[in-house]
Amino acid sequence: MSMTEPVIIDGVDLSAPAPGRVLPPRAYTSPAVYEAELERIFARSWVHVADTTDLRSPGDFVTGSIGTTPVVVVRGHDGEIRTFLNACRHRGTTVAEGSGNCGKSLDCPYHAWSYATDGRLIGVPDREEFSCDLSTMGLVTVRTGVLAPMVFACLDAGAPTFEDWIGAWPPLMKLGRTDEMQFLFEYTYDVDVNWKVYVENGLEGYHVRFVHDMLNDFVETKTARHFFEEHANYTHAFVKPEYVAMAPPAPHLMEGDRLFARFGHVFPNLIPVLSPDEFSYLRIDPIGPEKIRLVARSFALSSEFRELREDSVDRTNKQDIAAVSRVQRGLRARGLPRGAHASFLETRIGHFERMVARAMAGGTYSLSHDGPITFEKRMSEVA
Ligand code: FES
Ligand SMILES: [Fe+2]
Repeated sequence: MSMTEPVIIDGVDLSAPAPGRVLPPRAYTSPAVYEAELERIFARSWVHVADTTDLRSPGDFVTGSIGTTPVVVVRGHDGEIRTFLNACRHRGTTVAEGSGNCGKSLDCPYHAWSYATDGRLIGVPDREEFSCDLSTMGLVTVRTGVLAPMVFACLDAGAPTFEDWIGAWPPLMKLGRTDEMQFLFEYTYDVDVNWKVYVENGLEGYHVRFVHDMLNDFVETKTARHFFEEHANYTHAFVKPEYVAMAPPAPHLMEGDRLFARFGHVFPNLIPVLSPDEFSYLRIDPIGPEKIRLVARSFALSSEFRELREDSVDRTNKQDIAAVSRVQRGLRARGLPRGAHASFLETRIGHFERMVARAMAGGTYSLSHDGPITFEKRMSEVA
């Protein structure tokens, strides 16, 4: 399908909106649109599923999902981190729940088939009763990419490489030494909102001065710069001097980098934030057409200022949740025409919606009109 043919699902036009306009309200409420997004977006994208801080030792595992597909991420006894479909090859039972350490094998609780930490099927009670080739019935492996502390997985063998997907994040994360960071804390929230509404809230600084208090309004929005890639975008913004004074940046950062916060978006549902003294993310897990689970996690080189961060993250999230809940209620209004986005302060919403539109159209065209901008160019522009 070309980008000029409109993509209509359930009567909702999911083509790329005209410049400055946003998707129609029913794109955020229609169950049919949501089902199509699970297929065309979540099942074809690199989705964040776990953190390396929970996968330090062989046998450590974390369960998660890609859209509605359950997966389990495991550190193998060979040191490798792998992702598998969290489904037993016998009759489908999940082989793990929650997170923890599975020891030498993942054991299905239903009929006790067991799988080594590299996915091989190693134990089948009453083996002689099975005529199929059990040697081919290991856990189904899913493509896995690591950008410490984050682990991503992708269900689609035809999707771009992980490196292409995450673009300029690796050098930024290296600069912030995120691979050495420790896990600080996590909050999860269940919110009655469409996943795109929450993502879009995370992509704009326009609401910050109206919704959040001064403590959280720590960057200069007017002088921020936006960068776009095929599957990601960023805002680089100066941290206000009063914030730098309150929570000193990590000592290893060079002078210029002490002043920047990088707000990102990795399509479809991850909002990573790299600030001078910490790394955090929001992951928006779709649960239903108008339901998400929000996962907020923070990491830093030291646990100093942990309480301060903890309080401000929870407070900020609750302020956003109150705002987006009202967005969702309003979007249910019958006859509401499509809205608009600000050209600078909300420009990443436009980019996000073009990524959504491209995916809904089958993912076949490039967004190169938004960039891509090379890392060198990016660094010289922010310098
Ligand atoms: S479903 Fe797993 S052993 Fe039967
Ligand atoms: Fe916010």
